[in-house]
Amino acid sequence: MTTLAHISDLHFGTESPEIVEGLIEDITRHAPALIVVSGDLTQRARGREFMAARAFLDRLPFPRLVVPGNHDIPLFDVLTRFARPLARFRRYINDEVDPFVLTDKVAALGINTARSNTWKDGRVSGSQIEKLRERMKAVPPGVMKVLVTHHPFLPPPGDVSPPLVGRAAEALQAAEACGVDLMLAGHLHVGYSGDVRTHHLGVRRSILVAQAGTATSHRIRGEANSYNVIRLATDRIDCSFRVWDGKRFLEAKSLGYLKRDADWQPIKAA
Ligand SMILES: [Fe+2]
Ligand SMILES: [Fe+2]
Repeated sequence: MTTLAHISDLHFGTESPEIVEGLIEDITRHAPALIVVSGDLTQRARGREFMAARAFLDRLPFPRLVVPGNHDIPLFDVLTRFARPLARFRRYINDEVDPFVLTDKVAALGINTARSNTWKDGRVSGSQIEKLRERMKAVPPGVMKVLVTHHPFLPPPGDVSPPLVGRAAEALQAAEACGVDLMLAGHLHVGYSGDVRTHHLGVRRSILVAQAGTATSHRIRGEANSYNVIRLATDRIDCSFRVWDGKRFLEAKSLGYLKRDADWQPIKAA
């Protein structure tokens, strides 16, 4: 199986140094084929916060795919927010804000959903949906297609009015048509997984969602710091939710899914 480490909402500027060290240690032990970072690397998009986020990433010698989050656009510096919203992200993290990684097992496309005008909420643009179709069309069969955004497509269990990404229905239509199997996001600071069809009734194809919690910030929202280790094979996805227990990251929950008749079905514990 191929191993992905999925981290989100690091929020450098409000990070806990002890948790940063623990996360580096835990990810390194898993030696992932790819690290996916689904946004909010910083708290206020300051240069020093991006420098700290970059120094953290540089200590993890694995391929990575990083998208920005709303916190990676300045909030109070209005001139920069509208004139050059992702200038610091591009300078310190990646020049490309819709990155694509293709290996022999995984095709992962990141889409930047952060916007200057609706600072907190996010959306997908028409041209990004086109990019999704184009990128995934060229992927060889047998390679799992993964879409990465900061803003989520699936609410946490029990949440009736979550801030989901704008233009979700249209993006999901494209994801469905081009064979995306897995979507990774963050923003809500809660870790969970499930089938996108449980919320989007218009989607017919089974697409699995995994959300990552708050990786390294001490400003948590009800859940301890966490990240996900995801193992992939053609017809199987295992999500391990690894939670900070005050000293180290440990597996708190593990959910496995098997693809049966084109449906991602949870594997029941024996
Ligand atoms: Fe966040
Ligand atoms: Fe966010």
